Amino acid sequence: MNRHSWQPWLFAMEPERAHTMALLALETLAKMPKTRALLWPRHDPDPILQQSLWGLEFSHPLGLAAGFDKDARALPSLCSMGFAFVEIGTVTPLPQSGNPRPRIFRYPKEQAIINRLGFPSDGMEMVARRLRSWGKGSVPMGINLGKNKDTPLAQALADYERLLQHLHPYADYWVINVSSPNTPGLRTLQSVENLVPLLVALRKVREDLADNQRLPPLLVKIAPDLEREEIQELGHLAEDSRGLLDGFIASNTTISRPEGWTYPPEAGGLSGRPLRERALQTLQILYQSSRGKVPIIGVGGIFTVEDAYQRILAGGSLLQSYTGWIYQGPRMLEDIPRGLGDRLRQDGFTHISQAIGQGM
Ligand SMILES: Cc1cc2nc3c(=O)[nH]c(=O)nc-3n(C[C@H](O)[C@H](O)[C@H](O)COP(=O)(O)O)c2cc1C
Repeated sequence: MNRHSWQPWLFAMEPERAHTMALLALETLAKMPKTRALLWPRHDPDPILQQSLWGLEFSHPLGLAAGFDKDARALPSLCSMGFAFVEIGTVTPLPQSGNPRPRIFRYPKEQAIINRLGFPSDGMEMVARRLRSWGKGSVPMGINLGKNKDTPLAQALADYERLLQHLHPYADYWVINVSSPNTPGLRTLQSVENLVPLLVALRKVREDLADNQRLPPLLVKIAPDLEREEIQELGHLAEDSRGLLDGFIASNTTISRPEGWTYPPEAGGLSGRPLRERALQTLQILYQSSRGKVPIIGVGGIFTVEDAYQRILAGGSLLQSYTGWIYQGPRMLEDIPRGLGDRLRQDGFTHISQAIGQGM
């Protein structure tokens, strides 16, 4: 029995049930460090891929995107599996159950997923309790923050402030999620006139909380459905003298559907292969307009070494995957770093930083 043979078994289940089962298995392993070490032996990092960004060390560029472990249930397992960093969340201040089921749909032929989960969350208190009990992880950990569904948009800032205050001791980086399509109105916070005051206020909270000069960087995660000019305006924020943000994540899921999408219509965000071109374009526009001033995490439809390499050439300093990892399994966490190192050497680069944005 090979070690990835659980995959067909999970794919035979209803998607959300499969997710719950996988998370449960990883949560169990999270409490078994010796078994984890046998299951996922450590590989020597390839120096060509190692980067230090925001004062954090990344052994290679590929991390786990938000949404898989929203409540930090299985963090030590995810840190051991081979991801160079892990993002938990989206966490909301109060617990909430999200949208009614079914709310995750698989499209294996297209290697895609649609989800309309709507931020089901155990809430920040439970998440903080878990993070406290896990202790410091073996790789950098980001916390992705969202507002509660019942919080009026005008009071969204108060939700993000509370999250920052409550989860501050645990975050290596913050993600302000203003791009989920499944919380009504959330995406309007991406407009510059809404986002700037939010960021100004959150930076102040972050500075008031700073301990030992520790200021986890503030990243903004954007949607791939913005117009070119809107992405450009966001990119220009990276040059604002107030230092409003420290990075971007491009991108979240799309509400668009590819041409010839013949499945019964399901509301929600589409991820995986059909998102690849859109997410790549969003990253390209963002990198050009921000003139490489802040690191960008490229995410959306990354499955192969070529996808990963292309995203770095387009301006991604780091990468994330969710849907690709679901379809390809943990093998991806060996294949992409190894292949990326080879690919960089083939093209004459001696370090990944030389390749970032070189394909523009
Ligand atoms: C089931 C599911 C749940 C997700 N939940 C979140 C979330 O809570 N917060 C968030 O910022 N992104 C969430 N995402 C989006 C991913 O983090 C990622 O941005 C997107 O799926 C594109 O990457 P991919 O094509 O590699 O999946 C979710 C994606 C999926 C498939």
